Amino acid sequence: MKRAKISIIGAGNVGATTAQCCAAAELGEIVLLDCPQVGAMPKGKALDLSHAAAITGSDVRVLGTTDYAETIGSDVVVIAAGAARTPGMDRNDLLATNTRIVDAVAHEIKQSSPDAVVVVVTNPLDAMTYRAWRATGFPPQRVLGEAGALDGARFRACIAEELGVSAEDVSALVVGGHGEAMAPLPSCASVGGIPVAQLIPAERLAELIRRTRHSGTEIVSMLKTGSAYYAAAAAVAMMVESIVRDKKRLIPCSAYCDKEYGVGGFYIGVPVVLGADGVERIVEVELTPPERAAFQKSVAAVKKSVQAMERLAV
Ligand SMILES: NC(=O)c1ccc[n+]([C@@H]2O[C@H](COP(=O)([O-])OP(=O)(O)OC[C@H]3O[C@@H](n4cnc5c(N)ncnc54)[C@H](O)[C@@H]3O)[C@@H](O)[C@H]2O)c1
Repeated sequence: MKRAKISIIGAGNVGATTAQCCAAAELGEIVLLDCPQVGAMPKGKALDLSHAAAITGSDVRVLGTTDYAETIGSDVVVIAAGAARTPGMDRNDLLATNTRIVDAVAHEIKQSSPDAVVVVVTNPLDAMTYRAWRATGFPPQRVLGEAGALDGARFRACIAEELGVSAEDVSALVVGGHGEAMAPLPSCASVGGIPVAQLIPAERLAELIRRTRHSGTEIVSMLKTGSAYYAAAAAVAMMVESIVRDKKRLIPCSAYCDKEYGVGGFYIGVPVVLGADGVERIVEVELTPPERAAFQKSVAAVKKSVQAMERLAV
């Protein structure tokens, strides 16, 4: 059986770590691409990753390049190219720089991999996913963004730590945009099937939600020179796996919502069924009144960011 071809654009922290996760899980042949200005860097990282694969017993090829010709015919393309936050920055501060980068990358993907499913990681995530969708001209189902998988993992980790249980047994859902207005949903969180509200008092749960929302900033303030990437890369690899193995996992992703959730034509984090064709369907869940208010606040923040992006002369 032919292996999937997975191209990762941007061989920085998120891109290279995503390549490592995809290689370790033997998800397919991997091409790691960065811009020509970085010289042989992607080749060096790919060589290092192929040595790691020899140790982990992963039978995959990892190729590093600055030439889109090597990515031709990819099944999945991950966009992890672009500037990352440093302390004091909000994700929206990256808007102008990363819009230019996503435009350039999307243009290349459109030519080299016209049938690919595109997974965007670049921030500000929901606006950049929208941009990649517009710039590729692909059907919206084939362009999606990684955020909810990471934000949900952060919420799960907070709940697991609070209760002293394995995060494996914690199930949680975070919707809305990938910003501090994100909406973790207590009504959809459970531990071994037990609703979280039966295990954690409301005021402690509110504190865990606050921590989840600020986790990214917490990490940036400690790293100083960039933003978090291990969990983001693991989240992207989980999404890539669901696509290349057509697993149809239910994962929150930034997806194009028109009528769904009353969003009206924007990309926003919602639970989706993820398979070989990308977003196979959006799952609508009933939100409690406070959850709906949080979701709507988050949608408004994303709309503002998209409108600011559309006013940019790039
Ligand atoms: N969605 C999420 O959950 C999430 C999580 C973490 C990081 N991010 C975002 O992902 C992006 C990458 O983060 P990082 O930590 O890997 O940054 P990084 O600085 O380590 O790597 C970015 C890479 O992109 C490359 N690049 C820039 N322009 C390019 C172009 N035109 N073509 C190809 N490559 C290009 C750079 O040379 C660099 O190697 C940032 O925008 C960051 O904010 C998103």
